[in-house]
Amino acid sequence: LVDFSKFYETTGMFTFDPGYGSTANCKSEISFVDGKKGELVYYGHPIEELVEKYKFVDVIKLLIGNGYIFPTKEESDQFERELVRRSYIHEGLRKIIDAFPDGAHPMANLSSSVSALSTFYYDHIDMEYEAEYQTMARRIIAKTPTLAAFAYRSSVGSPFVYPDADRGYVENFLYMLRAYPHGKLKEEISPIEVSALDTIFMLHADHGQNASTATVRNVASTGVHPYAALSAGLSALWGKAHGGANESVMDQLEMIGDVKNVDRYIAKAKDKNDSFRLMGFGHRVYKSYDPRARILRKLKDDLDQKGVKMNQRLVEIAEKIEEVATQDEYFLSRSLYPNVDFYSGIILTALKIPKSMFTPIFAIGRMPGWCGQVLELLQEPNVKITRPRQMYVGK
Ligand code: ACO
Repeated sequence: LVDFSKFYETTGMFTFDPGYGSTANCKSEISFVDGKKGELVYYGHPIEELVEKYKFVDVIKLLIGNGYIFPTKEESDQFERELVRRSYIHEGLRKIIDAFPDGAHPMANLSSSVSALSTFYYDHIDMEYEAEYQTMARRIIAKTPTLAAFAYRSSVGSPFVYPDADRGYVENFLYMLRAYPHGKLKEEISPIEVSALDTIFMLHADHGQNASTATVRNVASTGVHPYAALSAGLSALWGKAHGGANESVMDQLEMIGDVKNVDRYIAKAKDKNDSFRLMGFGHRVYKSYDPRARILRKLKDDLDQKGVKMNQRLVEIAEKIEEVATQDEYFLSRSLYPNVDFYSGIILTALKIPKSMFTPIFAIGRMPGWCGQVLELLQEPNVKITRPRQMYVGK
């Protein structure tokens, strides 16, 4: 046992809160997660309303524009054109990406290239004006899909395809991922696919002080170049307890292999002597159904009805897991429900997106949230460096 009385004598009083489950590190207006009711809002707008009425580019503006919502389609289109115009990257950075070895995970490539971007925009270190923050944010948001697509092509040793100025922001990402090196597509990208990916990006755009966002804020609080802080966020996102879970969900569905094996794996997840967990289940804040998972479950059904080819075997396994787990005492008593990662992988697979790109897609979606959080932090008159305490238990 630790003698706490002696401990506090030298350190003063503080709270011990591993994982910061009960500690707020900042005030924020950007997003709110109501874990009890299962609700999510960005600047007061429910996620369901945003998905129904707006596009991802509108959500980008909302998050980096202090809650500004475009009043007209013309303004929204103009903003989208600006993002597409800014989506090209310096040839020097292309060469750096080109030098990464085949087989590297695109997240390793992406976090490195976002960090490397700080060598191309050194003026962003000492930003003084709101306008400069805006340029910083728009630049990185515009370039992230290009960097992500290049990261994938580099990982498979394929030549890069540059952005096409005549395509929209989301469509361009699919284009850079799919087109042949000479720029032609085997099949034109359909509006159904663009709209589905747009929804996925919107659902991932911000989510309070999750591990990657808290990392971005922590690093930015030291006064570093914002792109270095964003690169740290990408590293935090990569882990399988966080943004990497969407990849793990698909691995797990493949491993389960057949609906008849679901009960056996549910039993494994409940066994306290087994480290196996149901991926895509559970959340630190949501103690009810994650609203993003609800939207994705419906999106999966809509795509199916519209004739987008699903992997029916994996869909059946996922649906069975949800059916069994959401009636099981173990999961109910611990409030474990599907989270955003549970159905996203199935949808991304139907959109012919390779599994290694699931987490980079999460990252493209989250980039405007991270940028909004950095802007909010930098707008504070006195940015306080993040410096948690520790409970020293050594000699
Ligand atoms: N399968 C089986 N049991 C689980 C699961 C799961 N997926 N998640 C939590 N539990 C159990 C734990 O074993 C623990 O049980 P106990 O009280 O008997 O010890 C209890 O539920 C609470 O779990 P914690 O790990 O303490 O919860 P925490 O809030 O720290 O973790 C997390 C949340 C990391 C998301 C966890 O639920 C998990 O590992 N889920 C699977 C990975 C995943 O889907 N991650 C994506 C999260 S969403 C996102 O980042 C986008």
